[in-house]
Amino acid sequence: MIIKKIKLQNFRNYKEQEIKLFKDVNIFYGNNAQGKTNILEALYLCAFGRSFRTYKDAELINFESSSGKVFVEFDKNNREQNIDITLNKKEKKIVKVNGIKINKNSELLGNVNMVLFSPDDTVILKEAPSSRRKFLDILISQLRPNYAHLLSEYNKVLEQRNSMLKSKNIDTIDIWNEQLANYAERIYSYRKCYIDKLKVKIEVIVPNLTNGKETLEMRYKTQFKDKPSYMKLLEQSIKIDLIKGYTGTGIHRDDFELLVNGKELNLYGSQGQHRTAILGLKFAEMEIIKEEENEKPILLLDDITSELDLERINLILSKVDGYQVIVTCTDANIIRNLEGLTNEVKLYKIVGGNVE
Ligand SMILES: Nc1ncnc2c1ncn2[C@@H]1O[C@H](COP(=O)(O)OP(=O)(O)O)[C@@H](O)[C@H]1O
Ligand SMILES: [Mg+2]
Repeated sequence: MIIKKIKLQNFRNYKEQEIKLFKDVNIFYGNNAQGKTNILEALYLCAFGRSFRTYKDAELINFESSSGKVFVEFDKNNREQNIDITLNKKEKKIVKVNGIKINKNSELLGNVNMVLFSPDDTVILKEAPSSRRKFLDILISQLRPNYAHLLSEYNKVLEQRNSMLKSKNIDTIDIWNEQLANYAERIYSYRKCYIDKLKVKIEVIVPNLTNGKETLEMRYKTQFKDKPSYMKLLEQSIKIDLIKGYTGTGIHRDDFELLVNGKELNLYGSQGQHRTAILGLKFAEMEIIKEEENEKPILLLDDITSELDLERINLILSKVDGYQVIVTCTDANIIRNLEGLTNEVKLYKIVGGNVE
């Protein structure tokens, strides 16, 4: 798929901007704090219904305005389509897909397929399990919007259960346990399925990236085995949950683990191995989306020269043939001169919220 056009109105530091995108590689370059990442953020918003930098939509609206707008026109399945998002400081945003207003974020997901490479990606592997769950959730949600729906239902039930625990009134907790277990079972099966797919991919991709020097294995860490034992787990943890005032066990604690050459990456991995692992996961994500959607996802590469060495950037660019790529960087020449880049390039200079 390709994005043909993006229009911004009072989005971050853009007042009014229309950008026609090129089908191959687009490089947005300029000094720091000029608005390069803001463009990727706007595109990401149209794909996922939220920013990768903040949960607060109000932050996306220009400081001097009370509302903002992002409009994206794209080709997918040989059809011209569009997403239209109106942001409001005081109200919920309005999202339209091909002119029709949608009510749930899960209806937006999957229209624009996208993979983001960001300097912050290393947190996926280094930080708390929540960042790894987020990686999985983003991948699965864009392929199976029903998954996003299940997650939000699960979280609602979880909140209910937690407020019961806080109020120490647990007369009807069995009902909530049962509901949690129902959603957990379905969320688990999606996660298991996609971790298996990622696993198969990275087992090929990572040796390939490292000339056979490294292997990468992926393991799903979850408390879910089957519904009856999960129910039992919830029952057994009630005492502790009552003390804590929240639900301490469940698939909201899921995680995955990576092993480089058989050893835990987070304990023994070098900086370089972390970076390779991230690239492996991202390439796997790209391939899975491509296979399931029959369309190549849009690739967003934010500020890659800040985090990756030229060898790795070269490697990425040598694998993006036929993908629409949108890159941001401070020095466009670094990327343009890499030999891995064989695709045609269009350059955009960004100065103070303007595309020159
Ligand atoms: N809501 C907003 N309204 C106006 N300007 C904003 C808003 N949010 C961020 N900015 C400005 O956007 C700039 C940062 O944009 P960004 O795209 O992250 O820069 P970079 O070019 O380094 O990627 C900063 O100058 C910041 O002040
Ligand atoms: Mg930036």
